[in-house]
Amino acid sequence: MKAVALNRYLPVDDPQALVDVDLLKPVPGPRDLLVHVEAVSVNPVDTKVRRSKLGQSEPEPRVLGWDVAGVVKAIGSQVSLFRPGDEVYYAGSITRPGCNSEYHCVDERIVGNKPANLSFAEAAALPLTAITAWEAFFDRLEIDDSGAYHGRSILIIGGAGGVGSIGIQLAKLAGLKVVATASRPETRAWCESLGADHVVDHRKPLPPQLAALGFKEVDYIANFADTDAYWPAMAELIRPQGRIVGIVGNAAPLDLDLLKSKSATFVWEFMFTRAMYGTADMQAQHELLDTVAELVASGRLRTTLTETISPINAANLRAVHARLESGRTIGKVVLSGWA
Ligand SMILES: NC(=O)c1ccc[n+]([C@@H]2O[C@H](COP(=O)([O-])OP(=O)(O)OC[C@H]3O[C@@H](n4cnc5c(N)ncnc54)[C@H](OP(=O)(O)O)[C@@H]3O)[C@@H](O)[C@H]2O)c1
Repeated sequence: MKAVALNRYLPVDDPQALVDVDLLKPVPGPRDLLVHVEAVSVNPVDTKVRRSKLGQSEPEPRVLGWDVAGVVKAIGSQVSLFRPGDEVYYAGSITRPGCNSEYHCVDERIVGNKPANLSFAEAAALPLTAITAWEAFFDRLEIDDSGAYHGRSILIIGGAGGVGSIGIQLAKLAGLKVVATASRPETRAWCESLGADHVVDHRKPLPPQLAALGFKEVDYIANFADTDAYWPAMAELIRPQGRIVGIVGNAAPLDLDLLKSKSATFVWEFMFTRAMYGTADMQAQHELLDTVAELVASGRLRTTLTETISPINAANLRAVHARLESGRTIGKVVLSGWA
């Protein structure tokens, strides 16, 4: 089968950073689906893995990619949630080969039914970021997803990125007042189009901008950009007993003491945790992806796709990696179809 892989960990401007390869079709395990990959999205995790061991080689081609929409072609002996022919979307597991291949195996417990009204490309934009924002809000920040906390406030740092774009929509669905951050006219407009009540500029100090909008403090903060850089501002802005979630690992020690007098909570979200550790509640990702699909089908959420590129090959994937590394993409870029 066709696939895109790395043999060596290289900078994105090296033409060998990602290469087209021919691999054997994988064989599904007992709880696996064998999926024909129709479209994939690219996330910062792809670029982080590609740069993680610069100069080192892999003995076998390593396939990246953790965002898929496709069709189930075969199922393992213990699969109960899906059948061949089902259209699915999922992110997969960081501990297994990625999805940049014509066929891909994934544990059924972390797979959702594709939103019925979306194309494969529109669906592939969603899974990794939707899982992240959903778990961040409803599992880690413990926001009530049925709207019981209507009117509470959330600051979403990094509003126009992949995670922020679905995050703004989910926070609005939960009835929250959303202040998102964006630094350019086009990203500001994108955040507003997704439902943000206010947009502030993350290139300028945040507390005075929120104060000018009437927010001395906020109930929740979701940092979808840079944990270190916004730590002091988050400590200043969080309300007493409020909750902060981070999704980007810190580069330096964080001064946890800044949160003490407020009894504020800081919690991590890592969307691969459930699959990586095979947690007892791993199937929660199947359920949340199905819920997201229903919300999309009923028009309450929309895809965050902003651009589709064809076909899925090394040259196109490398170009999208380069764009993601610029930190300036809006919503999600998707690659669709095999030449
Ligand atoms: N823990 C997890 O499970 C998990 C899951 C998904 C992603 N992540 C991580 O979360 C981060 C965001 O992911 P993503 O997919 O949303 O990224 P993305 O789509 O590449 O984000 C691009 C956006 O980031 C904004 N941005 C750039 N620099 C910023 C800054 N200093 N402060 C605030 N916003 C900034 C840009 O907005 P402007 O152009 O307006 O500046 C741009 O629109 C990445 O580091 C990723 O690896 C973690």
